[in-house]
Amino acid sequence: MRLTEQDHLFVLTGAGISAESGLATFRGSGGLWNGYRVEQVATPEAWDADPTLVWHFYSQRRRNASSAQPNAAHVALTQIEQQLGDRFYLCTQNVDDLHERAGSKRIHHMHGSLFQSRCTRCDQPFPDTALYETAETLPQCDQCGAPVRPHIVWFGEIPLDMDAIYRQLSRATVLLVVGTSGSVYPAAGFVDIANQQRTRTIYVGPEEPLNREAFDEILLGTATEVLPSLIDQANAT
Ligand code: OAD
Repeated sequence: MRLTEQDHLFVLTGAGISAESGLATFRGSGGLWNGYRVEQVATPEAWDADPTLVWHFYSQRRRNASSAQPNAAHVALTQIEQQLGDRFYLCTQNVDDLHERAGSKRIHHMHGSLFQSRCTRCDQPFPDTALYETAETLPQCDQCGAPVRPHIVWFGEIPLDMDAIYRQLSRATVLLVVGTSGSVYPAAGFVDIANQQRTRTIYVGPEEPLNREAFDEILLGTATEVLPSLIDQANAT
């Protein structure tokens, strides 16, 4: 991937970039949680029906993410960010904090953050690392007493700050997509927007995504196998 001083790099990451840190992806092998598909625990309907189940799911994910470490792919993205400054933008579908722990700064979590919660009435997100695994421990708002939920965008809800994302995408000359199956919109449609504006598009992952035909280049391999050298080449120009 060669970059010039004119290039603006927009990176989209999915669950695959954290796979080599030991965090399970949603689809494919290991993509189930206690026999539930993610769609069964990550929806407003699931929350209405069984908030204990939903908090149990996200508590387990908090525990797993806390004990995981950023990998070489997360680190490679921080290196290119340092070089490009505000010509770099990272949009992640992931709710873990491994990008931040690797050192990423210009990052947007379009599906929310695992280590934030928000009151279902006041709607203000706040930092929260606690685990809520039983009905007795479910959290309530200090201010108004309403139930507190994970600050996560569930299926059927609108991802966060899409205007800012589309503004950044419109500036991009290169779209690099890493470790996402291309099955969840709007993120799966970013490559189509990029194609309309003739942005170069590159996909990195061990298997082709569902929207493979939309990409100029597909680099097959895991994130840690491909990203460090891809980014070194960019540095070289
Ligand atoms: P998926 O689980 O759908 O896809 C993970 C992708 O990562 C697959 O295409 C794998 O081939 C790839 N992959 C696996 N190991 C990899 C590795 N070592 N390096 C690189 N890639 C690897 O995850 P997402 O596409 O991120 O949303 O899922 C999108 C959204 O669906 C998630 O943000 C989540 C989920 O439901 C919500 O919770 C709202």
